[in-house]
Amino acid sequence: MRSVSILSSAARTARGSNDLFEKCRNFTRPRDLQDAGLYLYFGVFNDHKGCAPGEIRMRNRKVLMFGSNDYLGLTTHPKVMEAAIEAVRRYGSGCSGSRLLNGTLDLHVEVEARLAALVHKEAAMIFGTGFQANYAALSAITDKGEVMLCDHNLHASLVEGALRSPARTVRFRHNDMEHLERCLENCSPEEKVLIVSEGVFSMEGDLADLPGIVRLAKKYQARTYVDEAHGIGVLGATGAGTAEHLGVLDEMDIVMGTFSKSLATVGGFVASEQAVVDYLKHTARPFVFSASLAPASVAAVRAALDIIREEPDRQRRLLAVAQRLRVELRARGCYVLEGETPIVPVVVANELDLCRLCKALLEDGIYVNPVLRPAATQNLLRISCTAAHTDAHVDRLVEAIIRLAKKLDIPLSD
Ligand SMILES: Cc1ncc(COP(=O)(O)O)c(C=O)c1O
Repeated sequence: MRSVSILSSAARTARGSNDLFEKCRNFTRPRDLQDAGLYLYFGVFNDHKGCAPGEIRMRNRKVLMFGSNDYLGLTTHPKVMEAAIEAVRRYGSGCSGSRLLNGTLDLHVEVEARLAALVHKEAAMIFGTGFQANYAALSAITDKGEVMLCDHNLHASLVEGALRSPARTVRFRHNDMEHLERCLENCSPEEKVLIVSEGVFSMEGDLADLPGIVRLAKKYQARTYVDEAHGIGVLGATGAGTAEHLGVLDEMDIVMGTFSKSLATVGGFVASEQAVVDYLKHTARPFVFSASLAPASVAAVRAALDIIREEPDRQRRLLAVAQRLRVELRARGCYVLEGETPIVPVVVANELDLCRLCKALLEDGIYVNPVLRPAATQNLLRISCTAAHTDAHVDRLVEAIIRLAKKLDIPLSD
């Protein structure tokens, strides 16, 4: 037997092309971009030492940050940082267990109640990331014989959750209520339906027609799920998100949010009626079989929620900065997608041009993210505004975009 196994392993060695890792070695896209000097990913940032709000250090020089989802500028707010430090002192650096067993702190329970109240639901549950929240909730709440009707432009975490679910998934055209109604009509009467949308779409920054979704959900007896990753802290009179802004918060059945944007840390949550949350707490495998969120992050969320309530000016400032940027860019002929959120996407038709522009901006001291198809329907310079930005920052960004696009001969109009 021994000699057979040696022979077969020798035979495998001889078949060098049968190596599982071969695909990795042949994966040259990043290297090709590096060779062309246009690889823009995994840039390394340093700390905020000596930086004003809105800036960060990168390669030990100050960079103006227009690529962060820290919409309210709270990641460096003294109260948020102090809350995280105090939680580490009080609870330690982690919980070392699942929420189901030894991983639930009084802090988790308190913040879950605060989140539920924010989005007008009976209960909420915290996850390790926003991705995990969507993936776990969508895959666990739907069963065989049920249907999920998903907007075409959903975030990967929702798409993965839908793929993992045994339910049938149908994608309706982006924000197209007529198409959604046709999809609803095509469901059989026995099929129970969940309609899934983002509140603010993450790449293009546009708002979902949540009132339209709610109307159709009522008409066809469907349930609704809204991802408020980019809505919470940004929209709505109390910062509860898009559904609050559009007057349908109470009608949404499940509201999901992340902590990695306005709430200034990492993690996510899902809120709904108590029975739904209890069901998910016992059936959503990424929740049951994963350790609970670290105390520092939970405490940071609590502090961020306090600030959202106490400093509503941040939200106003954020939206004003984004509006100013949109107006200034359009006045100079840029093709900026419609929207009212802090995500200001400028269309740069050619992929290579977009990478060249981002690289030139960075050399000029401004960081902006490129979004390449198919992550969005068009190649986008995805500018992300925060409450930390000043009018002077906006003016500097606009001047740099126009100057550099002209120098590099990159068209920015439609
Ligand atoms: C719409 C949307 N949902 C979910 C997520 C995942 O959230 P997190 O990064 O907190 O895991 C993101 C993150 O970018 C997002 O944009």
